Amino acid sequence: MKPVILDVDTGLDDACALLLAARHPDLDLKAVTCVGGNVGLEEVVVNTLTVLEAAGRTDVPVGRGAARPLLQPVRSAPHVHGADGLGDLDWPKSTRTADSRHAVELLREVLLEAVSLGEPITLIPLAPMTNIALLLRTYPEAAEGLREIVFMGGAAGIGNATASAEFNIWTDPEAAAIVLGAAGELGVPVTMYGLDVFYDVLITLDEARGLAGSRSAELAGKLIEKRSLLYRSDGASIGDGGAVCAVIDPTGLTTEPFPLRIELSGSWSRGRTIVDTRDWTGDLTSDPYGAAPTVVQVATAVDGRRYADLWLKTVK
Ligand code: BDR
Ligand code: CA
Repeated sequence: MKPVILDVDTGLDDACALLLAARHPDLDLKAVTCVGGNVGLEEVVVNTLTVLEAAGRTDVPVGRGAARPLLQPVRSAPHVHGADGLGDLDWPKSTRTADSRHAVELLREVLLEAVSLGEPITLIPLAPMTNIALLLRTYPEAAEGLREIVFMGGAAGIGNATASAEFNIWTDPEAAAIVLGAAGELGVPVTMYGLDVFYDVLITLDEARGLAGSRSAELAGKLIEKRSLLYRSDGASIGDGGAVCAVIDPTGLTTEPFPLRIELSGSWSRGRTIVDTRDWTGDLTSDPYGAAPTVVQVATAVDGRRYADLWLKTVK
């Protein structure tokens, strides 16, 4: 089993990712940490506990983390996730409480334990990377417990929160810059599962309506139905869930190594992931900035049907 930690701002599609990570037999879900993003931190914590309960995984520790980005104010997305972040579904909320440790402390403890066990962990951030930046700045030694980081965020092409930037990176660009820089310095491999592939793992409405027989399947069906409604289409992508598929089945994802920077200023481009696809042998001499120090595996294509089947089979 591959040990993993998810960092989430649950969120309809974070919920799709949680159900998959909680139930797939090849993954050992060590912890889930929460950050404010799609909705406020308190809603994120309740939603995360609710989804894990539906998956039958009340054993997984859930850590409450940062309520807001490092520098800029919180900006939530009720138009994409509903007022409660979970589509305002008719679904009972968990009454459990989060772990007593702050998310950063929980991450540190689980990662240092992984070092002593010799079983490094794959970290899957699916939200603004505030918690991860705080962790790597406060306890850089915890990075030794990381096998890799596979994050949902950014894009080589389009944006969604703005024409230029993807929501997770745009919400906390400083955090993303810190994480990328630290990962480069500490030698942690990074994969970016960005908007270039995010929309391509599609579940049809028929498939969603066929999900039944367990609490997990029922909730999974409702999540896709709600996303379809919000997007006014006859199906919806599993969004963040695709990044978890990429950890379970990496060969379904095509990636290319590119130097990556985060735009921290710019008139219209703050939060953009600048993916450097140039042929460096030709262009370096005239570039005053030079190559970005961190090279990231950028997802450029995905086998959407294969990941959709993986998700459907698991959440059933
Ligand atoms: C990302 O932002 C949130 O709306 C989703 O949960 C996903 O993590 C997509 O831009
Ligand atoms: Ca998310």
